[in-house]
Amino acid sequence: MTKLVRGFRDIFEPQSKNFTQLENCARDVFAVYGFSELRLPTVELKELFVKSTGETTDIVQKEMYAFEDAGHRQLAIRPEGTPGVVRAYLENNFVQNAPVQKFYYIGNMFRAERPQAGRYREFEQIGAEYIGNSAPAADAEVILMLKEIVARFGAKNYSVKINSLGCDKCRPLYRQKLIDFLKQEKDTLCENCQVRLEKNPLRVLDCKIDGPRFIGRVPQFELCPECQAHFDEVQRLLKGKIDFVVDPMLVRGLDYYSRTVFEFQAGDGSQNAIAAGGRYDSLIKNMGGPATPAIGWAMGAERVMLARGESTPEPVKSVYVVSMDKSCNETAFNLMQQLRQAGIRTEGGLFDKNIKGQMKQADRCCAAHAVILGTDELAAGEVTLKNLQTGEQHRVSLEQVENEVKQLV
Ligand code: HAM
Repeated sequence: MTKLVRGFRDIFEPQSKNFTQLENCARDVFAVYGFSELRLPTVELKELFVKSTGETTDIVQKEMYAFEDAGHRQLAIRPEGTPGVVRAYLENNFVQNAPVQKFYYIGNMFRAERPQAGRYREFEQIGAEYIGNSAPAADAEVILMLKEIVARFGAKNYSVKINSLGCDKCRPLYRQKLIDFLKQEKDTLCENCQVRLEKNPLRVLDCKIDGPRFIGRVPQFELCPECQAHFDEVQRLLKGKIDFVVDPMLVRGLDYYSRTVFEFQAGDGSQNAIAAGGRYDSLIKNMGGPATPAIGWAMGAERVMLARGESTPEPVKSVYVVSMDKSCNETAFNLMQQLRQAGIRTEGGLFDKNIKGQMKQADRCCAAHAVILGTDELAAGEVTLKNLQTGEQHRVSLEQVENEVKQLV
């Protein structure tokens, strides 16, 4: 028997219903905030992620599912949604026609990470990208929108961390300061951070091994006056609307961020970010477009569910149609269709099985009532309606059955 690939999952009900529920919460909130859905392709040119997510990131270096297709194109299965959104924005000329855009996407992302609780190789992201607004109000808006979705879904135990990574003016100065500081500690750094030190020193701060040692010790990021004013205003707008803390160690694992970054974190495991995002004011320019500010986030659907805790959605009550004789099958089948047309969850149709087999299936389906059709009932133009919890049963005419079942389920 062929087995499932490690790190991938089959998701059955009731868990699969949690996804639908979260997606519905998100769609409702996106609608009131004026975000429109963008359905992105799963496969893009590999270079898209190399150029945007970043050459030095773990995602691109170690985790991307990349392959060459029959036409010798270097492709990748998307590890995240932001690069695809930017590509679509540029390729469809929104820059000229309607530069301010609010997009959302819901889709599976793929990263060849080491699987563990809350970390999968295929996972669902619900993401939002607000393009064309540099004002701090946009930062506050997307953060509050994220909070609203998480709250509607019912996840409560999380904290919000924010930070500013400065801009192309002030970050290089800090970067150099950090390199100088970390060089003194070089021998004590983990293997990965030895490499990060030159290539991406900020990442040392959120390294699970080295990061905690440097809390309170690393040089302070001095934002330029514009970035400081922006960050102050974001905090002012958020105050009183959401609890958050400023965490100078929050740097994020993707290369395109500038200014505001944030994470919603639950629990204290290593997979604790249930959602994360930030500004990427230089990305669109770096991808060949005009300088265009943007900010966004993505939530990991599975992690938001874990943060809420198990919740088993109530099963919808159903009726089960049983046919006791071959001569009743067609009427039973037509009745099933009639009840479904009336919006009633209806099961049945296992007419090759005897009554015992059909009743057993009704039980397995957790049906609340059975509609039973035998030759007697058929001759009288009736059915037997049986309550499967109490065992009570009575006859109902075929004309009345739809109305009566509607009252029951
Ligand atoms: P990210 O931090 O790489 O950011 O991922 C966002 C969220 O996806 C994480 O906070 C986490 O909840 C979830 N996630 C990531 N990897 C996994 C995994 N292996 N298994 C389960 N969940 C996972 C981005 O992807 C950016 N595109 C976010 C963004 C949008 N920034 C600006 N706009």
